Amino acid sequence: CAHASLPKSRGTGLDETLPGAGPSCNHVDEVWPNLFLGDQATAANRYGLWKMGITHVLNAAHGTMFCQGCHDFYGTTIDYHGVPAYDLPDFNISQFFFSAAEYIHKALSTPGAKILIHCVVGISRSASLVLAYLMIHHHLSLVKAIQTVKEHRWISPNRGFLKQLRNLDLQLQQERGC
Ligand SMILES: *[C@@H]1O[C@H](CO)[C@@H](O)[C@H](O)[C@H]1NC(C)=O
Repeated sequence: CAHASLPKSRGTGLDETLPGAGPSCNHVDEVWPNLFLGDQATAANRYGLWKMGITHVLNAAHGTMFCQGCHDFYGTTIDYHGVPAYDLPDFNISQFFFSAAEYIHKALSTPGAKILIHCVVGISRSASLVLAYLMIHHHLSLVKAIQTVKEHRWISPNRGFLKQLRNLDLQLQQERGC
């Protein structure tokens, strides 16, 4: 994370004005109750996941060269869902918005469930799927969803993904008649 060395400036008002000066360049952060957004290192650490109590993993970099944690890796203790997305502005990630949101929603409806959503760094692909989930199932606007996640983790969906999330925002607003 490029902003890891920025000093904390709590109480000075700078948190709001300095880009990236907010919380977190951690491997993983809980950005919504029982919903963890993280990187490949987190996903590859089965003991760490067990200690965190993770029951579900959504890998937004499924099948790419960085994918170590595929289905067989987790055995029967963790439910795995792979989304084969590439972190390129032209990649159509919107085709996965609803299916990924549905998976997250179902997972979190299970009592005691905790889900890790990750890609390689945990700021673009996986973050976009978390934003889509918050918009689809919790009726947050895109701006509100970004603000909510950014309270806990620095995220940076690529510009193409942001455009697709904006389209989702418009689509949902129209469907809800507001
Ligand atoms: C992305 O995929 C969705 C669902 O398959 C499709 O409706 C949409 O037209 C695609 N968008 C682009 C820009 O190809």
